[in-house]
Amino acid sequence: MAVEKPVMKNGESIYKWYCTPCHGDKGDGKGFNAKNLDPRPANHTDPDLMTKRADEDLFDAISKGGKGVGKSTLMPPWGNTFSKTQIKSLVMYLRILCRCQEE
Ligand code: HEC
Repeated sequence: MAVEKPVMKNGESIYKWYCTPCHGDKGDGKGFNAKNLDPRPANHTDPDLMTKRADEDLFDAISKGGKGVGKSTLMPPWGNTFSKTQIKSLVMYLRILCRCQEE
């Protein structure tokens, strides 16, 4: 019997499935894949970094990927994988991880 992918409804479950290999289980940028990447994946738990990003910037970075926002191409674009609603819920989850808001 085929194993079904879990249904991704909220930012947390999407993040756990798609983002943690690079960004880490805790969002601290220390996923198992991270040591192979240069630059390293962003630390989403760092309020100093995350307050400098508007929600819109995070949305764009997730949807267009690093290349789309002038950053590393190692950050993949997700705009064709997830709906706008799903990307918004990812942004909300990033705010939970950093316990911060845009400044
Ligand atoms: C293949 C590894 C990889 C995966 C998977 C990945 N990322 Fe990234 N991500 C990166 C890297 C590397 C950077 C750093 C880019 C840079 O600083 O140039 C980054 C940066 C970011 C940034 C910060 C952009 C900024 O403004 O500095 C956000 C937000 C982000 N990722 C969100 C996500 C989300 C949400 C997911 C899951 C849907 C995800 N990433 C999956 C590698 C990855």
